[in-house]
Amino acid sequence: MPPPARSSAPAGRHPDLPPCCEGDGSLKTEPVSGVSRRTFLGSAPAGAALAGVAAGAGAAASDSPETSEKDAAAVELTLNGEARSESFDPRVTLVDLLRERIGLTGTKKGCDHGACGSCTVHIERPGDEGPSRQLACLTFAATLDGAKVTTIEGLPASVGKGGEELHPLQEAFLRCDAYQCGYCTPGQIMSGAALLREDSAGGGHANSREQVREWMSGNLCRCGAYPNIVSAVRQTAGEEPEADPSADVKILSAADAASDRDEQGRN
Ligand code: FES
Ligand code: FES
Repeated sequence: MPPPARSSAPAGRHPDLPPCCEGDGSLKTEPVSGVSRRTFLGSAPAGAALAGVAAGAGAAASDSPETSEKDAAAVELTLNGEARSESFDPRVTLVDLLRERIGLTGTKKGCDHGACGSCTVHIERPGDEGPSRQLACLTFAATLDGAKVTTIEGLPASVGKGGEELHPLQEAFLRCDAYQCGYCTPGQIMSGAALLREDSAGGGHANSREQVREWMSGNLCRCGAYPNIVSAVRQTAGEEPEADPSADVKILSAADAASDRDEQGRN
């Protein structure tokens, strides 16, 4: 019996290679059929398929068709120092407004359920005494009329820095190597920057490593960069950098190690 027919593949190309591979097996660098990850996820069939997987009002709202003008929520807010008028489906959360509609993707969506802290931003509503850290995935954008919102993109400017300058906590994160994959980092920095000025007594919540750990316990890091994150916050709060712990490590030559073993054997 003849073998089953292979699917038709272009000449010079192995028929078993998926469409994302070049003929030599390497990955294509151009999106297949000109479709990027973002446009694919936004397309109707893919959006419908994923709607069953995505949970939460924000996900449902961001995948739904445009809301009629009559039902749309309209807010005027100040985003990173810039006055904006936005109109959107009233179910849209702030994290979706920022990432999907305005294009500020520095604010990360980790869990979309208020459990990881990666979407932390600063919000000051009319009547508030100042900005506070809040979770953008649990904040309906429609509640922000008249509010001032600061995201990681606007954090340096919020303390008077401009151009390529960084917020002091961002500099400390670099100095302390306080990240690995970096996904949680914007949320960690927004949380830490707020922590430094919290507490009505003015002392902040960063007076000890224990205090920093407690007050940032809502910001998770899958990479486990916690010790360095705490160091970055503590250094920004004025703590002297610790001496390099590796400076105390004694590197033994083979002869020294043998002599140490002899010494220990005699004792
Ligand atoms: S995405 Fe908002 S807390 Fe996880
Ligand atoms: S640096 Fe990877 S999750 Fe925190």
